[in-house]
Amino acid sequence: MPPESTKIDKIVSLCKRRGYIFPSSEIYGGLSSSWDYGPLGVELKRNVREAWWHSTVTARQDVVGLDAAILMHPKVWEASGHISGFQDPLVDCKKCKRRFKADGPEVKDRKDCPECGGDLTDARMFNLMFSTEMGVIEGETSTVYLRPETAQGIFVNYVTVQKTARLKLPFGIAQIGKAFRNEITPGNFIFRTREFEQMELEYFVKPSDADRHFEPWVQERYNWYLKLGISPDRLRLRPHGESELAHYASACTDIEYEFPFGWSELEGIANRGDYDLLKHQESSGKDLTYFDDQEKRRYLPHVIEPSAGVDRSVLTFLADAYDEEEGDEIRVVLRLHPALAPIKVAIFPLVKKDGMPERAREIETVLRPAMAVFYDAGGAIGRRYRRQDEAGTPFCVTVDGQTTDDDTVTLRDRDSMKQERIHTKELLPVIQERISAWKRPGE
Ligand code: GAP
Repeated sequence: MPPESTKIDKIVSLCKRRGYIFPSSEIYGGLSSSWDYGPLGVELKRNVREAWWHSTVTARQDVVGLDAAILMHPKVWEASGHISGFQDPLVDCKKCKRRFKADGPEVKDRKDCPECGGDLTDARMFNLMFSTEMGVIEGETSTVYLRPETAQGIFVNYVTVQKTARLKLPFGIAQIGKAFRNEITPGNFIFRTREFEQMELEYFVKPSDADRHFEPWVQERYNWYLKLGISPDRLRLRPHGESELAHYASACTDIEYEFPFGWSELEGIANRGDYDLLKHQESSGKDLTYFDDQEKRRYLPHVIEPSAGVDRSVLTFLADAYDEEEGDEIRVVLRLHPALAPIKVAIFPLVKKDGMPERAREIETVLRPAMAVFYDAGGAIGRRYRRQDEAGTPFCVTVDGQTTDDDTVTLRDRDSMKQERIHTKELLPVIQERISAWKRPGE
């Protein structure tokens, strides 16, 4: 394995080389901390979203989905506290004009900033929300914000969703979507960016039940990462201390991952009480209470919120899967869980003659309806295997001279590099069975 200090650079370079993720607008020199997902990246991201949606919504009876607009009424952000509270104190260097968080390490330890020797301005508050103008007539436009979290779309719609889907407490509303924050210190590849995607669940419960619903959600979310192959020794739970809690939260636990740059937050699970619903009820003047037909009374539900980042999860899965094996040459391999791997099986004709490409295409036709397949006839077979190792493809199938004789092919395993002969008729069930039975190497 590469040392942790160079691992992030290696991941960034592999992502570029294999078309996972690359800098946005690169032909114009790129845009700071903006990244585009290429053919493999987009599949990995889709698989992450799909795995989250399946475990949070489809596999449960008590959670429904929502897709709210990114642009919301500005009063939403007044009520939620984002206009007055979602801000950081900033200082500017008078000489080099760089901007720093007033409580950031560059200012506190004077590590980076004094390089230019400049004086710093007094701290000024800076709101992290992106704003834009809505409307086309000059003078009649209004300021709207790009949502800094998907959660508020759920809170303002909760009564409509509860009534139309005829939900009874406890129930959840889940949403995946883009969020925007004008982060002062974005960085570490896709860990902190200004445009990112969240996967959020607001789980509404009877107030007296909130505490007992909190821990099961923490465990559920922690186990989700483990089930998708994350190493247990790089994943931990960190309950917030009293002084760290947001004023509205009565409990919060972060799921942290040991990234190449250290332990950092991957997801947060918070007990938000009735803070958000109460604020929206006060601000909108609408009744947001729930009628409990057993107790025959109305009340505001409390909310447990597991809030995860899609991009941050993608980085976690990539970092955890990245491996280098010493040999004649270093083998770079992404040991992604097959459920997340962008391509499940690659199909190669050994050479481009003797009917091998035709037979390989026939096999492709059988496998493609069931899984993501990639056909590759180009280059030496060893190089084709290496390309798929870097792409994280768990299985490769090679059609060779023997295939015409006995209809068997080689099935090669990404993690062990073991090759075995298998009859083409068995290919689909065997691959499907191995995908579902997959374990982290060494387990
Ligand atoms: N509704 C609660 C909320 O938004 P948060 O801790 O600010 O809580 C939740 O964000 C998750 O969203 C984080 O744990 C992280 O995975 C992701 N996230 C937040 N800011 C991000 C950023 N600038 N870039 C990438 N992901 C981010």
